[in-house]
Amino acid sequence: MLETSLRTHSNGELTDKDLKKRVKLTGWVNSRRDHGGIIFIDLRDRYGITQIVFEPNKRELFNEANKLRREYCIAVSGGVRKRPKGMENKSMKTGLIEVLVDKLDLINASEVPPFEIDARTEINEDTRLKYRYLDLRRSDLQKNIITRAKITKLVRDYMEKNSFVEIETPMLTKSTPEGARDYLVPSRVHAGKFYALPQSPQIFKQLLMVSGFDRYFQIVKCFRDEDLRADRQPEFTQIDIEMSFIDEKDIQNLSEGMIKEIFKTVLKKDIKIPFRRITYNEAMESYGSDKPDLRYDLRLYDVDEIAKKSDFNVFKNTEVVKCIFVDREISRADLDILVSYAIREGAQGLAWIKVINGKFEGNLAKFFNDKLQKELIKKTNAAKNGALMFIADRKNIANAVLGRLRCYLAKKYNYIKDEWNLCWITEFPLLEYSDEDQRYVSVHHPFTAPFREDLKYLDKEPGRVRSHGYDLVLNGVEVGGGSIRIHDKETQDLMFKALGISEEEARVKFGFLLDALKFAAPIHGGIAFGLDRLCALLTKNESIREVIAFPKNKVAEDVMSEAPSEVDPKQLKELNIKLDVVKKNEK
Ligand code: AMO
Ligand code: AMP
Repeated sequence: MLETSLRTHSNGELTDKDLKKRVKLTGWVNSRRDHGGIIFIDLRDRYGITQIVFEPNKRELFNEANKLRREYCIAVSGGVRKRPKGMENKSMKTGLIEVLVDKLDLINASEVPPFEIDARTEINEDTRLKYRYLDLRRSDLQKNIITRAKITKLVRDYMEKNSFVEIETPMLTKSTPEGARDYLVPSRVHAGKFYALPQSPQIFKQLLMVSGFDRYFQIVKCFRDEDLRADRQPEFTQIDIEMSFIDEKDIQNLSEGMIKEIFKTVLKKDIKIPFRRITYNEAMESYGSDKPDLRYDLRLYDVDEIAKKSDFNVFKNTEVVKCIFVDREISRADLDILVSYAIREGAQGLAWIKVINGKFEGNLAKFFNDKLQKELIKKTNAAKNGALMFIADRKNIANAVLGRLRCYLAKKYNYIKDEWNLCWITEFPLLEYSDEDQRYVSVHHPFTAPFREDLKYLDKEPGRVRSHGYDLVLNGVEVGGGSIRIHDKETQDLMFKALGISEEEARVKFGFLLDALKFAAPIHGGIAFGLDRLCALLTKNESIREVIAFPKNKVAEDVMSEAPSEVDPKQLKELNIKLDVVKKNEK
């Protein structure tokens, strides 16, 4: 199937079944070796490597071959023969044969590449990104990109099988206030006005439900101007899904089916469904995170009641005392490192006690009588020798810092099992207080349906209202999130009010959605998966940049094309824009 007018086979194809065949191959010079007057070249293309051979008896050809260097692009013709005894490479599909070349065409010579096209070498990332087209010649990166394509194909097939319609939604949209910062696009036709690139197709997919499309999906680019991390890009891809006449369970079932198929096809792994479900509260209390990595246990314990009975002052005057138990000997030096880590992460301190043969040791041991020691050991399942580490603080700080310490300990002491751990986090709070904005903000987005029975708290204890929002977490990474939506105007109005968005502002920002809700929206809900994150996890890559053909670097630049860039004054004039750039330190 890979045959073209320039080649008969790919470089990953020929085996000892093809002996004596005449073949034509094309590709790049991966490496060359000279052995006793014979030139061996590993010819590479996307499909693999085939060893080609030039013998000195064909003088002219041999001289041409002598000029070949790494990454030259060539086409050759020749005959397939067995490799001599001892020269076979059984780990390669083409490792039993070689092609004795009788014709060589140099398609293009190459400058010396800035790095070796070899999966094993460590190269500075900005150099890789500057020459991404060369980086993408590397087989591990090609594998990532091909796996990604496989996943998107699988998703499309799965969705089609389940009667979903793939519908495109606009890229030039209206700026909305919730969530991350928007990327703006100035309008030429409407001076002084801007489009925003979508942070997600959220409102459009809801409108499609109002239209009766019933089952929508899209593999779609989203844009968010936020601080970047290994698992965040300014533009990233979602598998975006919305369904009508459903409840949470329906969305979750459908998602589980999709994830199961992806694992089966890509990793040949049969994962168990349904996935475990944990409420947000339980996740925060037991793991200190709304995306807990459950490949290891290392739980957080609320030991407030017991700790308050001790004589240790730090534990007495505080909202809560929580702790974590590590069942291993930890050196004093390591404990010091852990204390500094906790302080760096926002705790006032980290108190520790060693548990040795059922007894406390260390500076703090004296504050706990035998009875309290026993109670604490029981509460924290500290049956083995090890160390208890405590944080006394406000509950959210104690949870968050111990949650991060939990991950740190798991890495440091190799507690992470080699497995795939998937769980749903459910019953998220509808709202959380933002210290930065000094008001309540949506935990998911303002279209997420609240628990009806919790609406009574909306006025006085907004943080207590639960929502029908859910996230899917894979090995401690949030790979998807969604919710059941508000489908009536009254509740939507209520929601905007709780967010401190005035009726007028809601009209201006979301008028079209509010209008649509007046025309009998169905019960609907959905989810969006981070395709980049899923691909990175499945290919065991730390960064999503490894599964994106042309990603931005850590500061949102494309170092290859040098975007963002200044633009021609003429372009600005057309856009009716006058620049008055405020430098960072002038702000
Ligand atoms: P949410 O904002 O949770 O939900 O996004 C869904 C998923 O997209 C991935 N993701 C990202 N991946 C890479 N870079 C980023 N900057 C980035 N931001 C998010 C995450 C996340 O779980 N419209 C809602 C979904 C819904 O309610 O249906 C939404 O966008 O894996
Ligand atoms: P101090 O009384 O400040 O000298 O602290 C005594 C011990 O308690 C030290 O090991 C501190 O790290 C620890 N500590 C201080 N504050 C806290 C806190 N809020 N939570 C847990 N441990 C703390």
